[in-house]
Amino acid sequence: MRLRHYLQFSDLSRTEYEYLFARTRWIKDQFKHYKPYHPLVDRTLAMIFEKQSTRTRLSFEAGMHQLGGAAIFLSTRDTQLGRGEPVEDMAQVVSRMVDIVMIRTFDQEILERFAAVSRVPVINGLTNEYHPCQVMGDVFTYTEHRGPISGKTVAWIGDSNNVCNSWMKAAAIFDFNLHVSTPPGYEVEAERAGEYGAKHFEHFADPMEAARGADLVTTDVWTSMGFEDEDAERKRDFSDWQVDADMMRLAAPDALFMHCLPAHRGEEVSAEVIDGPHSVVWDEAENRLHTQKALMEFLLLGKVE
Ligand code: CP
Ligand code: NVA
Repeated sequence: MRLRHYLQFSDLSRTEYEYLFARTRWIKDQFKHYKPYHPLVDRTLAMIFEKQSTRTRLSFEAGMHQLGGAAIFLSTRDTQLGRGEPVEDMAQVVSRMVDIVMIRTFDQEILERFAAVSRVPVINGLTNEYHPCQVMGDVFTYTEHRGPISGKTVAWIGDSNNVCNSWMKAAAIFDFNLHVSTPPGYEVEAERAGEYGAKHFEHFADPMEAARGADLVTTDVWTSMGFEDEDAERKRDFSDWQVDADMMRLAAPDALFMHCLPAHRGEEVSAEVIDGPHSVVWDEAENRLHTQKALMEFLLLGKVE
């Protein structure tokens, strides 16, 4: 089998996502009915974390266990990575001992350097630039609630961060419209925006206009991990980029609200919205588990049906 990695959203085709989502539905159904499914017996996942995590660790670790395999948690603090061991050396060693690797790190380049020498599939568990597993779970969640996302409008309100960049790649693959509204100075990089063209990406200076008529409104923290030094400045700059009830009223009447979590109520989203009727954030978090189980199955076993 050809070695495949999942380093960014565009590493899978639309047909492959459709296959993965069908597998996700089946795997989720088994889980909900307490039916064991152990295709990955004797397989081991190494999870390398250079940043904190609740959902990503939990979903990968529980997911691997539920598929019959084992997961090992490694962090910068407890490994030689934290003492300067080159990432290529780490990749050589780790990938001789386990069957699949998930990494959460800073620059996308670190992940790419690891994957370049890895003997086993590598999954992006979040970098400064991308968070593909999140958006895979989000697109699956939208589809579960509302049917196909193609042709719909997604409004991204806030920082043009790793999750936003993965939404942009998803818009091109699934053929939906992405409205992005950021404060001045935090816009999507021109080079990145140019990749997609007007069909899949439109910038809005006014967040209310970005949300108008949207089928899905989504946001994320104003300050991502690794940018903590800018926190005070960002709190000032982003204060008008909160998803609140007035904004949701401008969206489509059956619009969904998503947030990758962790959330800061009163900052990027009001409590009324995240805890209100449009919000599907708990389904969204849960679906990280089911979609990533399908992803690990695919990367290790290929198509099983
Ligand atoms: N959404 C997400 O990736 O959450 P964690 O940072 O808790 O893993
Ligand atoms: N953009 C956020 C996502 C956290 C899951 C961050 O990178 O911190």
